[in-house]
Amino acid sequence: MLFGFHLKTGCYQLKWLKPDSWTTFLCAPSGIVIEKHPGDKPHTDCLAIQGGPAAVTAEIPAWPPAWPEVARSVGAALADGSWGQYHGRPVQEFTEAFAAYLDVPLVWPCSSGTIAVELALRGCGVQPADEVILAGYDFPGNFRAVEAIGARPVLVDVQPAGYVIDLRALPQAINERTRAIIVSHLHGQLADVAAIVKLAESRDLSVVEDACQVPGAIVGGRPAGTTGHAGTFSFGGSKLMTAGRGGAVVTRDESIMQRMRIAAERGNDAWPLSALQAAALVPQLSTLPGENRRRLAAATRLREALSQSALFTTLNDAWDEAWQPAFYKFALQITGEFERQPVLDALCGEGVPVDSGFRGFMRRSLRRCTVCGTLEHATRAAEQTILLHHPCLLGDDPLLDQLIHAFARVEQGRDRLGRV
Ligand SMILES: Cc1ncc(COP(=O)(O)O)c(C=O)c1O
Repeated sequence: MLFGFHLKTGCYQLKWLKPDSWTTFLCAPSGIVIEKHPGDKPHTDCLAIQGGPAAVTAEIPAWPPAWPEVARSVGAALADGSWGQYHGRPVQEFTEAFAAYLDVPLVWPCSSGTIAVELALRGCGVQPADEVILAGYDFPGNFRAVEAIGARPVLVDVQPAGYVIDLRALPQAINERTRAIIVSHLHGQLADVAAIVKLAESRDLSVVEDACQVPGAIVGGRPAGTTGHAGTFSFGGSKLMTAGRGGAVVTRDESIMQRMRIAAERGNDAWPLSALQAAALVPQLSTLPGENRRRLAAATRLREALSQSALFTTLNDAWDEAWQPAFYKFALQITGEFERQPVLDALCGEGVPVDSGFRGFMRRSLRRCTVCGTLEHATRAAEQTILLHHPCLLGDDPLLDQLIHAFARVEQGRDRLGRV
């Protein structure tokens, strides 16, 4: 008899049941058979991909949750007809509430984080043939946003064992064509934006602070997104504040705002945030701080649990009142000698919702960009990162216990996984 079943995260097993024994075929999400295990019933010490039971059985919270506040707010927009207007009440309401939440005077709501980055660059006066510096490991759309303007991406390395742009790599990348620097907070790591702004201002450059992954984080004592000359946010479906789609740019600089307005206005706003999206976002400004605290507490526990690991490295940044990350993804890096894919497959098999990070820009053609330095750490980030998706950081203690157990079990079984 043939049984097939999907584990939550994509890996699945097919079991061939003979009268008194199983043969287990392990399949990666791609469908490729990775291993075949003839023999008796799965042993409970085995990795799930080798026929053992999955370590994570507790339910992973759905994202987005069924926030009653959001239902009420969207319901009110339906009831008063603002949902069907070009400039419906909730957009203004969200714009004001977001500005107050971040303590910034100017907010430009828009259709996505990707467009927010492009508008922010345009707002900072980036023109065709200008150069924009960004990290060799970053959200792919940021590279495209630079290109969309006709400007040239200039790549520099990220910090060692990290994800954010390395301040020390910037001076050698700056020349007379440089116009702006994109600084992204990624995977729970925060960039020292104030230090980068200081350098940028000494060279008459602008900084776009990409806070798409970290609404509500505190960066050097200030809300994420508010230290750069322009800050960007995403309200995409998986994000910490979600409207399914959406984004925003914030700034203190009226001239940046005016240039964005001109870029976006084509008889009408070309990349708007809709009234229904705005209505869904307003109440999340109240739920976000508590959720960020819970995610941070879970991330702290995970980091402690993995601190002695020989297989996984976590970010070792100091977190305190002035530096409070928000976790869209919790990042781990695989220790150099092990291959990432088998570890990812093993974690997926255990029911851990993980995936690999960005691919980085190391292989982009030099016709499209300029590379400064070796991008050694960006390469490592692209090849060795494993990301845990944030909803499981909102689970109860039993879920966190099981996640920690799953990492420990995969680590124990590491010698059965591939080495580089
Ligand atoms: C750092 C960063 N910037 C920008 C974006 C783009 O946001 P959106 O998906 O809303 O276009 C993302 C999306 O994941 C991101 O992680």
